[in-house]
Amino acid sequence: MTELPLSGRKVLVTAGPTYEDIDPVRYLANRSSGKMGFAIADAAAAAGAEVQLVAGPTNCQQQHAGIVRSDVRSALQMLDAVLEKLQGVDVFIACAAVADYRPARLASEKIKKSGTRMQLELVRNPDILATVAALPQPPMTVGFAAETCQVEAHARRKLQQKNIHLIAANCVAGGQGFDRCDNRLLLLYADGRQQDLGLQSKSALADELIQVIATELRAGLLATATP
Ligand code: C5P
Repeated sequence: MTELPLSGRKVLVTAGPTYEDIDPVRYLANRSSGKMGFAIADAAAAAGAEVQLVAGPTNCQQQHAGIVRSDVRSALQMLDAVLEKLQGVDVFIACAAVADYRPARLASEKIKKSGTRMQLELVRNPDILATVAALPQPPMTVGFAAETCQVEAHARRKLQQKNIHLIAANCVAGGQGFDRCDNRLLLLYADGRQQDLGLQSKSALADELIQVIATELRAGLLATATP
């Protein structure tokens, strides 16, 4: 029997948006559909990996029966779920569009409108990917950077700041990338290499990304900016 590229490997994927509740009927969120993250989870499972998927609120459905999925709502819940599932994981792929901030207070009743303006105090959410990358023995860490301008420069900065192995950058200006079946990804490696995967369907991109990850794992030469 031929060995699949990720046979024997454990992969943990985050996907979709997070919802940060303001009161019982309102929340803050972003435009992520979850399609890219679900395509990656499916591609990893098809490549023979044991896949755990932590998903924010989404209508997506995983295709592979073997994928173990946990549904969460907020960034804090996503962080807890990720840390709980990390044991033995070889690759962490953070595809979720995690909300950077959450409301400082969750109102227990629906907030009533009063004046013409209102202020909402927000506090910073933890960075899940950077938290995992900072662990004493982190898995291979793969991030995504959705940018509207200077895609490569912003993505390279995130790769370095989060101290991860690989980042997949894409331009989301003018609605590109969001809630669509195609995307264009540029891969930036911590050792300075880069690779343009071009414009393709999200499932084709996911397959290519998984092949790249399998090759990097096999080579065992994973580098981050700060070794
Ligand atoms: O939001 P940002 O552009 O920094 O996201 C870059 C990468 O970091 C993505 O892979 C995203 O999933 C991850 N991230 C995270 N936790 C956050 C913010 C981003 O894991 N709070």
